[in-house]
Amino acid sequence: MKIIRSITEMQQTALTLKREGRRIAFVPTMGFLHEGHASLLREGRKRGDVLVLSIFVNPIQFGPTEDLERYPRDMEGDCAIARDCGVDSVFTPTAAEMYPAGFQTSIRVNELAMPLCGASRPGHFDGVATVVSKLFNIVLPDAALFGKKDFQQLAIIRRMTSDLALPVEIIGMPIVREADGLAMSSRNAYLSPPERQSALCLSRAVRTVRERYATGEHTADTLLASARELILAEPAAVIDYLELRNADTLEPVATATDTTLMALAVKIGATRLIDNTLLGDEP
Ligand code: PAJ
Repeated sequence: MKIIRSITEMQQTALTLKREGRRIAFVPTMGFLHEGHASLLREGRKRGDVLVLSIFVNPIQFGPTEDLERYPRDMEGDCAIARDCGVDSVFTPTAAEMYPAGFQTSIRVNELAMPLCGASRPGHFDGVATVVSKLFNIVLPDAALFGKKDFQQLAIIRRMTSDLALPVEIIGMPIVREADGLAMSSRNAYLSPPERQSALCLSRAVRTVRERYATGEHTADTLLASARELILAEPAAVIDYLELRNADTLEPVATATDTTLMALAVKIGATRLIDNTLLGDEP
């Protein structure tokens, strides 16, 4: 497994592979890998002749009061997981390599980036769209894999790829959860044992809404009220947003259907966690 730190080396490697007619599958991450990332890597292994993983804690997608400095890092552990999943190259540039002095270009996807996480994290999705398009230009992937755990991010990347005619197939992958339901996230590492218990209110809310929808309750306000009640019962939890929206446009809905997205962000102590479900999808 090759570790590549320079943009030029990664791009040259990718160009050589493309000239040889090899198909590149790509999984962009911020590291501190867990089973959710590994599921993307294993699918990527099947989708390409060559599998590239990027590990880059992207400063421009963090707000000034967010957790950039303390974002968890474990290069050694990440490399062990990457090797196990059959990664060929790990691209892990420094921030100075990706954003040298004078960098001033930004990619913005408009409407899709406004609600939900976009509303509570201004500029976040500009940072995501900018880094992902730059990574695509460096890694030259035929296919790139993203998790539905970050549903809005996936929607934005699909939109950007289509709007800009980027020659990359975007593959969305199911949310991987812990045995008790908590969606896996690098940020779960911040949770103290009692907070880890409180964090279960997110997946419980998702499950409750799915169950009530399946048994015939389709009124958005009623579905959301049952989820809200469940979360408010958890003293450590503060709701950032809890919404039902059209999964394609991310516009609010009054009546839930199979194409409705339930999405929520909740702060457990100092840690902000997200979860979601598409009501018509497998759990
Ligand atoms: P990161 O949070 O490291 O996630 C990398 C990829 O793993 C994303 O596509 C995310 O949706 C997916 N992922 C995370 N947890 C998952 C889970 N429990 N189940 C399935 N997939 C999961 O998302 C980012 O990094 C960054 O914003 C990035 C796209 C790399 C741009 O900087």
